Amino acid sequence: MNESGSDMYGMQLEATERFREMGLAQLEQAAEQCCGCPLAGSRTNVVFGEGAPAADLMFIGEGPGFHEDQQGRPFVGRAGDLLTKMIEAMHFTRAEVYIGNIVKCRPPDNRNPTPEEATACLPYLLRQIELIKPRVLVLLGAVPLKHLFNKTGITRLRGSWLDYRGIQVMPTFHPAYLLRNPPAKREVWQDLQMVMKVLGKL
Ligand code: URA
Repeated sequence: MNESGSDMYGMQLEATERFREMGLAQLEQAAEQCCGCPLAGSRTNVVFGEGAPAADLMFIGEGPGFHEDQQGRPFVGRAGDLLTKMIEAMHFTRAEVYIGNIVKCRPPDNRNPTPEEATACLPYLLRQIELIKPRVLVLLGAVPLKHLFNKTGITRLRGSWLDYRGIQVMPTFHPAYLLRNPPAKREVWQDLQMVMKVLGKL
């Protein structure tokens, strides 16, 4: 590992330690002040995440896009409208679930977060998961699969359960992909039905 790589992991450890005592509100305040990676310089708003603080079901996306950056809320653009429909089709409301992202600041031009950005931001998400204690995590697309499990191959891995510290994890396609490729909604619906079964909604 090069020097900046080891610095990055040192910073991640330091953040993990600092967040250990924080609740969600304090963690959100820390995120608002965060300058842990270059995305801080171009953000309009930090998009911390939102929803029920003890949600059974948590969704994890990639990172804020244009509308999310403008409003400071996750999944409020077109992909967000589709995610809301998916949540409602599962017999939940948006307020009953929790929605977060791998990075909390918008990557320029909606590119994927770099490994450095994801590493710097991950302690926030991991503490959110620890505090919310969802029964099921749904990973939306390849980016959370990569940064939470270091796995590639969303097409192969979607629809099969993973485990994160005792929490059942279902990887599926990202709603933005479904907007470009509507036939894939069928597979996502199969994945979400598996989640519904676990949560007593089916
Ligand atoms: N796409 C994401 O992955 N996250 C958002 O918050 C919005 C769009």
